[in-house]
Amino acid sequence: MEFVGKHILTVDQMDREGIEVLFDVADQMVPYATRRMTTRVLEGAVLSNMFFEPSTRTRVSFGSAFNLLGGHVQETTGIESSSLAKGESLHDTARVLSGYSDVVVMRHPDAGSVAEFAEASRVPVINGGDGANEHPSQALLDLYTIRRELAAQSRDVDGLRIALMGDLKYGRAVHSLLKLLTLFDRVEVHLVSPPDLPAPPELVEGLKAAKHVVAEHHEMAGGIDHVDIVYVTRTQVERYESSAEADRYRGLFRLNQAIYTEHCEPHTVIMHPLPRDSSDAAQELDVDLNQNPNLAIFRQTDNGVVVRMALFALVLDVVDYVHEDARPVRWYTDKRTPVRHRST
Ligand code: CP
Repeated sequence: MEFVGKHILTVDQMDREGIEVLFDVADQMVPYATRRMTTRVLEGAVLSNMFFEPSTRTRVSFGSAFNLLGGHVQETTGIESSSLAKGESLHDTARVLSGYSDVVVMRHPDAGSVAEFAEASRVPVINGGDGANEHPSQALLDLYTIRRELAAQSRDVDGLRIALMGDLKYGRAVHSLLKLLTLFDRVEVHLVSPPDLPAPPELVEGLKAAKHVVAEHHEMAGGIDHVDIVYVTRTQVERYESSAEADRYRGLFRLNQAIYTEHCEPHTVIMHPLPRDSSDAAQELDVDLNQNPNLAIFRQTDNGVVVRMALFALVLDVVDYVHEDARPVRWYTDKRTPVRHRST
């Protein structure tokens, strides 16, 4: 697949070769993301980071990724603080913003809205999540994490056994990840959800068309017992008519250390796109798992920075120049004790 100058709207654009290129570039970004080297390869470039729905990780990590490559980030958060609140169309907003920036990242509550915006944009647009539809960069960082976690066990994504558990109907990160899994071979997928919140049928059909083994479950037991990865997702409260409706599903599947010990294999890796809902009513991923070395949720968030740096570098066509432009970090190399420690 071609990255240069392209919008990144859906993982349907990806193929195995493109994913290998992206992950290879992401690996090369690690010294910059961990502040061992610096680069100003995107100096002068401007990112418009437009988040019309709440976000912590996606907004900040896209912004950090752009800053780490030397670019400048301008942000809008919330529809109410933009002229969309005055009735401006996505078309007009896109035409305006693409005159102010070199690339746009956008999150919006409506499915298809980022693609509509991209049609009018003169610069590349990256989908930061559109309603319950897709969250491509999250799925890419999830796949990058899965690959790294499996590599530590001398395994590959081909042959993966994975359980996805929770609100599979509205979880956009799950939707994009299920699509990406169709690019691999011999995957066993366990879909664990309340009966009312199944994965969209067309995604299940896509998995079957890829000749994957697919099993749907409505109980945790049986769904998470023999898998390499258990990927938990929260009830997407913001997609329901009312929080009372969402409350019918919150807390139905709670993974904690006792359940993990009883049901999971010793090397099962626990993932979640985050945020996890830590309210008493939900607790889909209990904090008592925080000491479990197989909990990969913060390795996922760290990996999000390098994957998003790689997306920018590929889309803006600066990959070949990053290393030419690289500089050692003076404070890091001049001191015996680094100011900042990072563990991954
Ligand atoms: N995973 C994710 O999209 O998190 P944020 O909503 O905090 O961006």
